[in-house]
Amino acid sequence: MGQMGLSSFSFSMVSYIILVLGLIIGPLLCNGGKTSTFVRKVHITQGDQVGKAVIVSWVTVNEPGSSEVLYWSEISKHKKVAKGKVVTYTYFNYTSGYIHHCTIRNLKFNTKYYYVVGIGHTERMFWFFTPPEVGPDVPYTFGLIGDLGQTFDSNKTLTHYEMNPQKGQAVLFVGDLSYADNYPNHDNNRWDSWARFVERSVAYQPWIWTAGNHELDFAPEIGETKPFKPFSKRYHVPYKASGSTAPFWYSIKRASAYIIVLSSYSAYGKYTPQNAWIEEEFPKVNRSETPWLIVLMHSPWYNSYNYHYMEGETMRVMYEPLFVKYKVDMVFAGHVHAYERSERVSNVAYNIINGECMPVKDQSAPVYITIGDGGNIEGLANNMSEPQPAYSAYREASFGHAILDIKNRTHAYYSWHRNDDGYAVEADSLWFFNRQWYPKDESH
Ligand SMILES: [Fe+2]
Repeated sequence: MGQMGLSSFSFSMVSYIILVLGLIIGPLLCNGGKTSTFVRKVHITQGDQVGKAVIVSWVTVNEPGSSEVLYWSEISKHKKVAKGKVVTYTYFNYTSGYIHHCTIRNLKFNTKYYYVVGIGHTERMFWFFTPPEVGPDVPYTFGLIGDLGQTFDSNKTLTHYEMNPQKGQAVLFVGDLSYADNYPNHDNNRWDSWARFVERSVAYQPWIWTAGNHELDFAPEIGETKPFKPFSKRYHVPYKASGSTAPFWYSIKRASAYIIVLSSYSAYGKYTPQNAWIEEEFPKVNRSETPWLIVLMHSPWYNSYNYHYMEGETMRVMYEPLFVKYKVDMVFAGHVHAYERSERVSNVAYNIINGECMPVKDQSAPVYITIGDGGNIEGLANNMSEPQPAYSAYREASFGHAILDIKNRTHAYYSWHRNDDGYAVEADSLWFFNRQWYPKDESH
């Protein structure tokens, strides 16, 4: 009996040890570790007209998962949930992942928020800062990037923007994102890889989107006849908040700036929706609330490079009188893969019979800046019309980005940074004087 008891004890001890060792070693030997369906391509943009909402977008690949965003402010730490929606699309032989869009509303101004997307072990946490409340003397720093693409030059531009000692708080992006359409059948995997590339910035600060020609993805030869299909599925903007009827033209207020985004590739003639909207829009701008009036578009109006020559001309004829009447401070465009800054000029006197069709200095006119030098895929535009026209104040065929550092209602410091220089170097810079509150000539 006694012997039996001992051997039974030894047997159970050995089984116990084997069991424990099995529990420890087993997972190391048998399981290959964690299988993660990493949530990717996270990006944010402003979600309302004043900056109290943020649209969070991301993609899940194999299954839809959750469209909810968990978020909390650094101060309260009280966690809240916002519900979003999921969309997918097909493009020729490509099927997108599950694209989630979730708008977080009623945020406090000037506050750091953390947010989490994904579920279970796919959760990822990011953060952003809401802007200060809209007001006339609120300082704010915008980055300016255009025609970015996903080349070595694109990476250099984004790195220079991130490393610039003047820290941009939001990016005004003037169109041409991924250049997916430069690949066979507009390979939409390039839309995914571009979103992964820029996530390191756009998951943490809003980028304000403008549609460029490379967002059109209009390809009837492969049966794709809906313009802007991938772009509009992936990049949502708060266009309804500004009374717009399409996501390609809209406006936002941010700090002391009023930003109007126009579409060079949507109809803008008389009786078109975009024209009807902009005629209503300009009178709404209250310069006592938002002194800085900024317009973004893709195709530049004042361009002295021998690329895309005159492509912006018909929109200029339509809208330039409004820009001068409402004293737009500055217009940023891309499209031409180089940098150019104009004098304050207008060309609005021509009436078919008077022959007055030259740009003239005009202190009610905007400064036009082409910042299409993000990196693209087609190379730099280095062929310029000669001699340099009088309206062109500075032009250079180098990759780079710019910073607009608004100080108060009268002054903003602007600088352009080329990728070939160190992070802090300003290749072109000037003080902008506000057209409403301090309409002096900056060049004197
Ligand atoms: Fe372009």
